Amino acid sequence: MHKIAVIPGDGTGPEVVNEGLKVLQAASRKFAFKYETRVFDFSGQRYLNTGNLVSDSDVEELKKYNAIYLGAVGDPNVKPGIIETGVLLKLRFALEQYINLRPVKLYNSNFCPLKDKKPEDIDFVVVRENSEGLYKGMGEFKDKGTKDEVAIQISYNTRKGVERCIRYAFEYTRKRNKKKKLTLCGKTNVLTYAWDLWERTFNEMAREYPDIATDYTHVDATTMWFVKNPEWFDVIVTDNMFGDIITDLGAMIQGGMGIAAGGNINPQGVSMFEPIGGSAPKYTGKNVINPLAAICACGMMLENLGEEKAGKAIEDAVIKLVRTKLKSLAAGKMGYSTTEVGDLVVENL
Ligand code: IPM
Ligand code: MN
Repeated sequence: MHKIAVIPGDGTGPEVVNEGLKVLQAASRKFAFKYETRVFDFSGQRYLNTGNLVSDSDVEELKKYNAIYLGAVGDPNVKPGIIETGVLLKLRFALEQYINLRPVKLYNSNFCPLKDKKPEDIDFVVVRENSEGLYKGMGEFKDKGTKDEVAIQISYNTRKGVERCIRYAFEYTRKRNKKKKLTLCGKTNVLTYAWDLWERTFNEMAREYPDIATDYTHVDATTMWFVKNPEWFDVIVTDNMFGDIITDLGAMIQGGMGIAAGGNINPQGVSMFEPIGGSAPKYTGKNVINPLAAICACGMMLENLGEEKAGKAIEDAVIKLVRTKLKSLAAGKMGYSTTEVGDLVVENL
């Protein structure tokens, strides 16, 4: 029995989560696994109503589950930063989900903004460190509000944190068994403390993986290669901030936020799966948002729960739909509504 905590969240989160749960139910019948869900109401809306974010006891409760399925959090009426740190980052940090795994895979070249790129050219995975770096929230103001003000924001990198992330990336590259190439994406030429540690750790660990080819690119150049030669990549490992930035670009070259899914992974604990896009307030309640990112996140979750066949079948059902029926992956332009897209995935299963 898989115990799944569901956090629909804000905006279009609940709509896309509903479609994911529809597909989950269909998959459980077809692949004969059992699951139960419980909905947790963490959201910007709840914060506005009650002032509550995610508490330590909420975190303890979530630890009783095998996985978390998240829609999106963020409410335009809440000051930026509160929900992000109080819900999303709180969950990632408190549950020690130290990997953010973001596959970038093009399913249909018609939906790629790059000229002449085919599905076989865009198929890589970003392993983003998910617990440290600039996201640690360390820093201070000096003389705030004066003309001599200084704002300091620290990138915090521990040897253990860097090591476990790079270790995960090497193991993942081996298991993935495609090009068997791991690229470190950093900024060794300017950020000479953090990236010295990352590069040393990476090079030392590479010796333990003679079967994996290694490579290094600066983050700025990485964005260039994503557009020019995405076919060069297999697995990329990078820090929290760079990973955040390059995976939005990654989402665009795979067809947009409508299809981009990710997992916040604690290899020894509870992982959380989400579409990487936001709560899309302007599309809320219109039945137009693309649920495929959430459905793909559900597939990743099942794989993580040991239901590999079901996870693969969901991806195949999505691929078939994206190649044969959808007019676009963008909200309101798919040729089908949100709920119809969910139904079509179920049909293809
Ligand atoms: C993401 C988001 C989050 C991040 C925000 C909402 C805190 O952009 O999941 O990529 O920066 O990690
Ligand atoms: Mn982001």
